[in-house]
Formats: sequence, C-alpha cells, structure tokens
Amino acid sequence: MTGAAPVPRSMVIDHIGTLVSNAPELGTGELGELPGAALVVEDGRVAWAGPRERAPGADTRVDAGGRCVIPGFVDSHSHIVFAGDRSREFASRMSGQPYEAGGIRATVAATRAATDGALLDTATRLLREARAQGTTTLEIKSGYGLSVRDEERCLRVAGRLSEEVTFLGGHLVPPEYAADPDGYVELVTGPMLRACAPHARWVDVFCERGAFGEEASRRILTAGQRHGLRARVHGNQLGEGPGVRLAVELGAASVDHCSYLGPDDIDALAQSARGGAGPATVATLLPGVDFCTRQRYPDARALLDAGATVALASDCNPGSCYSSSMAFCVALAVRELGMTPEEALWAATAGGARALRRDDVGHLGVGARADLTLLDAPNPLYLAYRPGVPQVAAVYKDGDLVSGTP
Ligand code: NIG
Ligand code: FE
Repeated sequence: MTGAAPVPRSMVIDHIGTLVSNAPELGTGELGELPGAALVVEDGRVAWAGPRERAPGADTRVDAGGRCVIPGFVDSHSHIVFAGDRSREFASRMSGQPYEAGGIRATVAATRAATDGALLDTATRLLREARAQGTTTLEIKSGYGLSVRDEERCLRVAGRLSEEVTFLGGHLVPPEYAADPDGYVELVTGPMLRACAPHARWVDVFCERGAFGEEASRRILTAGQRHGLRARVHGNQLGEGPGVRLAVELGAASVDHCSYLGPDDIDALAQSARGGAGPATVATLLPGVDFCTRQRYPDARALLDAGATVALASDCNPGSCYSSSMAFCVALAVRELGMTPEEALWAATAGGARALRRDDVGHLGVGARADLTLLDAPNPLYLAYRPGVPQVAAVYKDGDLVSGTP
C-alpha cells in the first residue's frame, strides 16, 4: 500500500464558558481569559482560539457545555519513583514530631529493595492519578536510590513516564557514607553522575541543613552542568540558607520550597526575573509540603510584589507530601500564601512551564501543545472556591483525551 500523507486530525472544543489561555492577547489579564470561547486542536497543537462565533470548522466537535477550559497543570516537582510507606511517620508528625530530612532514609531502603517493575507500577499509578486531576506535564526526580545502580534505575523508570527527569543523587547522604559525606559527594559528582546524566535533563540538590551545605551543593550542581544537565535546587525549606542565592548564582531554572526567605533572597529572585543574566530562576512554592509537615508557608505575596516569577508544584513524595493534587496546591496558595486565584492558577500552569524552561506547555496560545483540562465549573475561581472537590471532567494531552469524559 502506498501511504498518503496522514490527514491532520482537527477537533473543536466549542461552547467554552471561560477559556483560560495564559495568552494575554486572547483575552483579559495575565490569564488571557475569554468568555464564550472555542478552541481548535490540530495535530496535537492549538491551531486556533477565540470567540466561538468565529470558530473555524473541524473534523470533530466537543461541546464544553458552558464549562471552563484551563491549560493542563505543569507540576514541576515530584518524587514518584519510590517504594515503601511512611503513613506512620505522617501520623506521628501530626501528633507533634518535627519533619526531618532523615525520613528519606526509610524510603531509600525500601526503594533499593524494590524491583524495577514495582517502582514502575507505583510511578505509573501516581502519574495516572495526577493526570486524572488535570496534570499534563510532570517532572520526576530520582533521589531514593542514592547508589550508582539505584539512582540509574530510578531515572530509567522516570524516563518511561516523563521527558522532565531530574537526577537527585544529592538528596541525602546515605547511611553507608555517614562517616564520609565528602566521599559521597565524590561519588555523586563522579561515577554516579556519569551513569545518570544520559537519563536526565536536570540536576537537583537538597541544599539544607541535615542534607548538603553550600559547597557540596555547588559542586553537585556545577558537575551536573558540566555533563549537560540544567540546574534546579531544593532550598530554604526548613530554615534560611544558601539555596536561593546559589540557585540564582548558577542560573538554575528554579529553586523549590522557599518557605524561609530573607530580603536578600527575595531581591535575588526578583532581579533574576527582571532579566539580568538570562531567564528567571523561578521560585517554586510547594504548599502541600508545608501543609503536611506543619511548616511555615512561604510568603508568595512578598515574592510577587517584588517581581519574582512564582510557580506552584505538588512535590508528590511519600514523606513530606503524599499528594499529587495541583488543585489542592492552588487552594492552599489562595488561602495561605496570599495569592489571588488568578495568580495561583497561572503559577500552577505557566509558572510551572517557566520552572521547566518550556514554552510549549502551560498556555493555550496558538502553537502550544493541546494539553488542557475541561473543568466541571463555569470559571477558574472554582478551583480555590471549592477545595477538595473533584472538578476535572476531562483531560487532553497533545490533543488526545487521556482521562475522564468530556
Ligand atoms: O521536597 N526536601 C527534600 N525532598 C522531599 C522530601 C522527601 C522525603 O521526605 O522523602 C521534599 O520535601
Ligand atoms: Fe522535593
């Protein structure tokens, strides 16, 4: 059979009550909100968006029935490759135990003992769970293997599920290196990095008291950069520290947590957003973690007022926040972080895309990937207005229905 060129498949989503495009030219405000809209998808990309009465024809039609369409959530921070259960740790925290970085060790032991198949099953289940809640891009980190073999296989598993894969050998010094933390940094920046770099796009480090200090963090990040990985940082989660400054200094795409910031940290993030040396180092806030660890919430208002770029992410992991719900993050950001509902939704979509240095996701402007969510709600305020209520009707990725029914 001689194959004709494939006919582009087009689909119009019509009768959208409110379209949130994050493309200001399409509507009002930063969200580019447009009432009474339609959106045309062709070959997995947004081909047209605008007032429904002007919509061009398409091969198929989906009736949004006056409901709201938003860009798929871009969750730029997760640790879903793991084994084991830490529900008891959570319960004891709720009765007064503090959250400590060392809890990670329990997950490391279970992850090392798990087969690749078991790790993939859990991660796949969590990816589907996230997708069903409107997440269409999910970054996935290693960091529970902490040996050359186990970090590499965790990254291979992550790479089966996402293109946004992060090497986090610098998550914690594993027990066998307790007496020789420098030796562990040597391992991470040497043989482990050589084995892992081909399977990752990003390098990350947990720069925090009890994990890695400033010098070790710098060594890990710059070694990763020399191997072609781009930097992102866990910083300022449990107290003030060098994480934010280091992230900005090294041109990291994002510094995540940011619960404890001094004025200099806020200035550095704001200045990086003003354009100085390149794209912004995004302040990625993880309010689900602060909720689940009873830690102080970050001050998103101060960051936004200073001009920093803010993202929201789930940090889905078995220890500090076992939730994949970006809608929950949006609700917390509005209730606890001082963000408006519009700022929170932008941060969970376009902000996440900035944190991953992606311009093809996080918005629904013409040419973007058709990654979008149809909400059982007339407008996006409902995400924060109805906390804990499932409102995702259908999720499309690259124009394909991947969850729910429209
Ligand atoms: O982002 N901060 C470091 N890593 C995770 C927690 C991991 C764990 O407790 O297992 C976080 O919160
Ligand atoms: Fe994390």
